[in-house]
Amino acid sequence: MTFITTKLKDLNDRQQQPAHQGNRLVTRFRFDVRQVMSHVRSKIFGQEETLRRLEEMLNIIWSDITEPDRPLYVALFLGPTGVGKTEIVRALSEAIHGSPEAFCRIDMNTLTQEHYAAALTGAPPGYVGSKEGTSLFQMEKIEGSYSKPGIILFDELEKANDQVIYSLLNVMDNGLMVMTSGEKVINFRNTLIFMTSNVGAKEIIDYADGGFKYSLRKFLWFLQPSHWRKGEKDFLRDVTLKQLEKRFSPEFINRFDDIFVFNWLHQEVLGYILDMNVQSLNHRIQKYNCQLRLDESARKFLIKEGLNKRYGARFLKRIIRKYIEVPLASQISQRLQGETSLLFVAGMQNGKLNFLAIEEPKSSKDPELLLKETGQSLNS
Ligand SMILES: Nc1ncnc2c1ncn2[C@@H]1O[C@H](COP(=O)(O)OP(=O)(O)O)[C@@H](O)[C@H]1O
Ligand SMILES: [Mg+2]
Repeated sequence: MTFITTKLKDLNDRQQQPAHQGNRLVTRFRFDVRQVMSHVRSKIFGQEETLRRLEEMLNIIWSDITEPDRPLYVALFLGPTGVGKTEIVRALSEAIHGSPEAFCRIDMNTLTQEHYAAALTGAPPGYVGSKEGTSLFQMEKIEGSYSKPGIILFDELEKANDQVIYSLLNVMDNGLMVMTSGEKVINFRNTLIFMTSNVGAKEIIDYADGGFKYSLRKFLWFLQPSHWRKGEKDFLRDVTLKQLEKRFSPEFINRFDDIFVFNWLHQEVLGYILDMNVQSLNHRIQKYNCQLRLDESARKFLIKEGLNKRYGARFLKRIIRKYIEVPLASQISQRLQGETSLLFVAGMQNGKLNFLAIEEPKSSKDPELLLKETGQSLNS
């Protein structure tokens, strides 16, 4: 539900819209592209090409020069799982609307059958629910406001039934969806539309695994004159787009403003994601007066264990749960009564990840040194 204060502010914005403030151009949009992108960049690593293009698009949108009778933007995110496709939309929503959940998310894997198209477009006249025009669409999140664009994500597109996909063509084209009852129209003209799909992910992984058949195909691809001077990324993009063409019709594919193929996450990127996860874990354990620090050996170990092309950062999260959260939770639960604040330092000892607990006020020694010298550990 839109709050009345938001509505009033919107009205106010509309009425007092100067074209310039001082020497600076102002448009109807009240978000700062640079701030938005710096927030997104603080959450998403290793997908810089996509982010750069997204920044260009946001600049165009902010300038309010996009065609008025279309959605603001329609983009498709492709690539392996766990590489940030959904997370980018959450980060964008947080940056623009202040919450990572402030967008309408349609999980397409819940719409696998033909008649599920009605979950989007409402029931036909005469059927139960047709009058209410009930739909999975959350109008307010889709339509946004005068000063902010709405955001919608159709997640895991390849799982949806073709009829469901077909019902989206109009939306992508003219930004309107007429509900089947005919009484209601949902307007997507102030909306950033994102779709994600894992098509081609399986093929990409087969190439990464490097069986003879795939190596040969890769070799032949690079031999073609039009592919000379191209890199591995272009090859993977080509493989993915071929699968996209197999799964979806040209009418559908042609309606996207941009199609991105996301990168695999490499070691360095995984390191950043690990640090970000530890940082957010530290926020969560602050209430117990505890902090966690990984020494370099622990960091290396977790990155090595967490590197997985098939599941991306999702696998790293599993590794963090297994090696960090499980032992940490058991340490914390034993020490809940303690008043003193504790610093846990995780490090490798005899090939095992161990925790050393240091009571604050801090020991004058560097905890990592202490860990090495004393071999002291809570686990052993
Ligand atoms: N490039 C990335 N940068 C930072 N975190 C990431 C990245 N990719 C994945 N993650 C983390 O992994 C989780 C799963 O990523 P998600 O975007 O949902 O994957 P998918 O690409 O399958 O949509 C996210 O919650 C996020 O924390
Ligand atoms: Mg996803």
